[in-house]
Amino acid sequence: MSLVEEIDYGTPRSRATNDVTLSIDGRSVTVPEGTSIMRAAMTAGTKIPKLCATDMLDAFGSCRLCLVEIEGRAGTPASCTTPVAAGMVVRTQTERLKRIRKGVMELYISDHPLDCLTCSANGDCELQDMAGAVGLRDVRYGYAGARHPDPGKDESNPYFTYDPSKCIVCSRCVRACEEVQGTFALTIAGRGFESVVSPGMQESFLGSECVSCGACVQACPTATLNEKSVIEIGTPEHSVVTTCAYCGVGCAFKAEMRGDEVVRMVPYKDGKANRGHSCVKGRFAWGYTTHRERILKPMIRAKVREPWREVSWPEAISHAASELKRIQRQYGKGAVGGITSSRCTNEETFLVQKLIRAGFGVNNVDTCARVCHSPTGYGLSQTFGTSAGTQDFDSVEFADVVMLVGANPTDAHPVFASRLKKRLRQGAKLIVVDPRTVDLVRTPHVAATCHLPLLPGTNVAVLTALAHVIVTEGLVNEAFVCERCDWEAFQHWADFVAEPRNSPEQVAKLSGVPASAIREAARLYATGGNAAIYYGLGVTEHSQGSTTVMAIANLAMATGNIGRPGVGVNPLRGQNNVQGSCDMGSFPHELPGYRHISTDAVRESFEALWGVALDKEPGLRIPNMLDAAIDGSFKGIYIQGEDILQSDPDTKHVAAGLAAMECVIVQDLFLNETANYAHVFLPGSTFLEKDGTFTNAERRIQRVRKVMAPRNGYADWEITVMLAKAMGFAMHYDHPSQIMDEIARLTPTFAGVSYDKLDALGSVQWPCNEKAPQGTPVMHIGAFVRGKGRFLITEYIPTDEKTGPRFPLLLTTGRILSQYNVGAQTRRTDNIVWHHEDRLEIHPHDAEQRGIRDGDWVKLASRSGETTLRALVTEKVAPGVVYTTFHHPQTQANVVTTEFSDWATNCPEYKVTAVQIMPSNGPTGWQREYDEFTRQSRRVAPLEAAE
Ligand code: SF4
Ligand code: SF4
Ligand code: SF4
Ligand code: FES
Repeated sequence: MSLVEEIDYGTPRSRATNDVTLSIDGRSVTVPEGTSIMRAAMTAGTKIPKLCATDMLDAFGSCRLCLVEIEGRAGTPASCTTPVAAGMVVRTQTERLKRIRKGVMELYISDHPLDCLTCSANGDCELQDMAGAVGLRDVRYGYAGARHPDPGKDESNPYFTYDPSKCIVCSRCVRACEEVQGTFALTIAGRGFESVVSPGMQESFLGSECVSCGACVQACPTATLNEKSVIEIGTPEHSVVTTCAYCGVGCAFKAEMRGDEVVRMVPYKDGKANRGHSCVKGRFAWGYTTHRERILKPMIRAKVREPWREVSWPEAISHAASELKRIQRQYGKGAVGGITSSRCTNEETFLVQKLIRAGFGVNNVDTCARVCHSPTGYGLSQTFGTSAGTQDFDSVEFADVVMLVGANPTDAHPVFASRLKKRLRQGAKLIVVDPRTVDLVRTPHVAATCHLPLLPGTNVAVLTALAHVIVTEGLVNEAFVCERCDWEAFQHWADFVAEPRNSPEQVAKLSGVPASAIREAARLYATGGNAAIYYGLGVTEHSQGSTTVMAIANLAMATGNIGRPGVGVNPLRGQNNVQGSCDMGSFPHELPGYRHISTDAVRESFEALWGVALDKEPGLRIPNMLDAAIDGSFKGIYIQGEDILQSDPDTKHVAAGLAAMECVIVQDLFLNETANYAHVFLPGSTFLEKDGTFTNAERRIQRVRKVMAPRNGYADWEITVMLAKAMGFAMHYDHPSQIMDEIARLTPTFAGVSYDKLDALGSVQWPCNEKAPQGTPVMHIGAFVRGKGRFLITEYIPTDEKTGPRFPLLLTTGRILSQYNVGAQTRRTDNIVWHHEDRLEIHPHDAEQRGIRDGDWVKLASRSGETTLRALVTEKVAPGVVYTTFHHPQTQANVVTTEFSDWATNCPEYKVTAVQIMPSNGPTGWQREYDEFTRQSRRVAPLEAAE
């Protein structure tokens, strides 16, 4: 095995469509107009020495190493900053050039520490390479003279070090932070010989605005910025391309290894979702995979108050299967079910739903998308005919206006945020519809043109008011609507939105957003060119989540912003494979490919291949399973890779449901909160330990590749196969590629997907079939999947969750950059330095009224329950609104969220809870009881007792 090599062309690809031909060192080269000479030479296989250039960044032209001669031109221009021209004759290797380059390198080396042999970048250092490339054998000036300032090493960042003594001041780091990441955390302080790279205002990396994305580390050609893991372990010796297991952006990485140890994760430039960038989670937060708390042996127990007993895999599987069979005999077939994981692979998710439908004989299968994007599936299938976003991420590069609704990409989808910021810096306009002043409202070199800080729960009213302006001011794209949409439904909808009650002036009263701001946003969206909508859980996690998705689809159709690059409706999906888990038939009413279980022809195709009869009735959703458990009719559940106790709303209700079951089987990496109620624990495997695929928010199917053997013994799909066999429903697969072959055989939108194709193309976006063998980057070109686009009435129905004297504030919840979901993985990494507790954001006015200061403990109470956490007094939230994250089990923020949910899909209304805040002395009684329960529940019997 060897390292996956990626060519560095020195400067970015030109987007021009016309080509020019030139001669480089006597060879004819044809490249797009606007390409640099350096890139053109590299395309032809000629490496021009370089230091300040790299193809992730615009050319800078500072090191003067890449000089060339051009016939008919005086001097020696830099090849990185000089574009090609037709007929140009370039020479890259002449005696004069060699002499100049050697001279430049002499100056660099005379100022550089001579510790190559012990340097952590030895063998992986561009300065070293360039010294070799120019044939430098001697330094005429010696090494003893003055040196650049060396303020000393900065080791504050948990993942990388900064050693200014090795810096060549090429500015690649500064430019990476600006151009790729868009954070502008670095500057070059001082002038000339005194120049030095500085985070923020000469702060430490940890103390600056740096978000630890690592782009600067990747860009640095020397060991100045270097991963601590490389310093500790050594340089990597082989690598495998795989996909990040955190968020729905789906960044591709090279897992760079030494033996079976990960040395570092390097974003893969050919990754079509991330284009060589990453965030702190994917790049650095993989330490959880070897964390000491990971459970590696199966465990069982009769009662949740008893200590766990470690057992062999056969015993655990046979015990789990016999318990499930007993429950079905005793209480009926429908007394069991399961939950698939949006963190596991498509293949694993497919197998879990197959086991439940075909092995358990019931359709009681659901997934965590129930609690995040189920309204996306429903809303978009009703309007457009398919349950997914319409674009690829590249599309944002063609957007002129971006409307961001209920999403906070800089925290939740950071690499997409960086790509969006880049487009905004190029001049695209931004509309933010969000109760909070999320970072994108104002961040370095980016400011939203409109921010509509609506009251939580009023999305439908505000989006319908935007439609009101578009219809009543004559901004509808009638040609598009006529040709592409159901005209009658449009007219019906247009009459509805034009009603005075939907005007911005009326909606201002209930949403708190000034009418003028709504009008300005509507005009901008409708007339600003290519307009794209991106949205997040602030849209879906409401009692009207599905209606809001439909309102968004209506806006896109009315303005003709669908069916080409730069436009569209784009849900930013939360977990890495939440799109895939939905695609794979994780909902009780849908088989893979979003086909209803009651459709005979569809069901029969599965029955024919699986050799069993399937129930035609939809099964229970997660909330129904929990209700049925409390009622006594649901007794056993198989949960793969989800922590419903922490992630689902109304924690006490979830706990009561789990406690009422007789067999809870949890398959996960760690003893999570749900496992406190489990009777069987099956250790799960990490994304580094298995093969498979994930599908990201763009519908992009990407390979997950095994880089090490599963420490628990088995990949998750193998565990499901073992359980199925023990249940009497044998499945036979030697490799996940065979599972994908079965998915392709049964699912028309996946018909053209295979591992061979994924290996050849890197990734594909579904639909991928005969009609679209290379996949579908942009959907609904020419026609909607359902034929004519369908406008739907979006009547605003206020949530029943209302503020009042007892609970006068509205709580909304979200995520933070460094933590992921329930935090089970990221809390077990050094990311904890950025966020070690959930804090309650409260506006200074509301804080003062309650005598609360920044950092004080506060009690957060709703009609569902109460918890305590510390306050963060900030103007990021409007008066009357408070906000918190749910990454830490100690907080149990979902104790306060309620049972209200989306009318169509049961997606919980996380984003609106009426609460009261008051000063507190510390944890509530419930929190203390729960802590003790957790402590008891996690005991493992000593080995003697287990024997
Ligand atoms: S890690 Fe990222 S945010 Fe921090 S300085 Fe480097 S490029 Fe900027
Ligand atoms: S830290 Fe690295 S990338 Fe930044 S200026 Fe110095 S050598 Fe160049
Ligand atoms: S967490 Fe998301 S944005 Fe960050 S590296 Fe992973 S996939 Fe990319
Ligand atoms: S690589 Fe062209 S000037 Fe540095």
